[in-house]
Amino acid sequence: MIAIKNKDSIRKMERAGQLLQEVFCLLSGILKPGITTFEIDCLIESELKKRDLKSKMKGYMGYAHVSCISVNEVVVHGIPSKHIILKSGDLVKVDVCASWSGYCADMARAYFIGTPDKKALQLVEVAKKALDKGIAQAKPGNRIGHISAAIQKEVEKHGFGVVRDFAGHGIGRQMHEDPEILNVGKAGAGPVIQVGMAFAIEPMITLGDYRVFVEKDNWTVKTRDNSLAAHVEDTIVVTLDGPKVITRA
Ligand code: MF3
Ligand code: CO
Repeated sequence: MIAIKNKDSIRKMERAGQLLQEVFCLLSGILKPGITTFEIDCLIESELKKRDLKSKMKGYMGYAHVSCISVNEVVVHGIPSKHIILKSGDLVKVDVCASWSGYCADMARAYFIGTPDKKALQLVEVAKKALDKGIAQAKPGNRIGHISAAIQKEVEKHGFGVVRDFAGHGIGRQMHEDPEILNVGKAGAGPVIQVGMAFAIEPMITLGDYRVFVEKDNWTVKTRDNSLAAHVEDTIVVTLDGPKVITRA
């Protein structure tokens, strides 16, 4: 069942998104060579607290942190660690889901440490473009498959891989709600999109093969061919006028 949110729920989600976006704004200033992903997670945790944002990740299926921080060939669900020290050239994806007054926003951004490699830069640009194309399809009357197909088309046009094993999702009181929003699919397939629905849309793309595996820690998702991966995510609500992104300024 896909929940339809009322005005009050949407207002709370928008507030969650606004505050979460503020936290991300601080990240570009601290993502420097030498910092550990554990330190980044600690900073995010204190910034969430300052804003009355409650982490939806800490405690989720035993997860112990407020963010997932995924470096280079790690696609998603990288666990913050004192042993992961960022260095020049790294591509870092930070993913945070938090609630305000019981309603969630979910967001991920990709950052470069130092000067990015040309291919890496292109990969991130395509991930962002795919996210925008997917979001643009989240309008009343379309189907979920319109979002999936738009993302897939944009990514494959550039010859990059689209990860199949993980997906975007509905969002509201819970971090993960119906429907599942795959990053591949056919326009016209899946449930009809209606005003009041809210989605977290999150393309996960690779420079090489799209296949991934989960590390022995049961969380870290890596590309099988060790190729570079990008991931970006926004939360949107569906309005009469179309999608409204709540995780951007
Ligand atoms: N926020 C993520 C998502 O988009 C990842 C959740 S995994 C967690 O679904 F355990 F860390 F919460
Ligand atoms: Co998500």
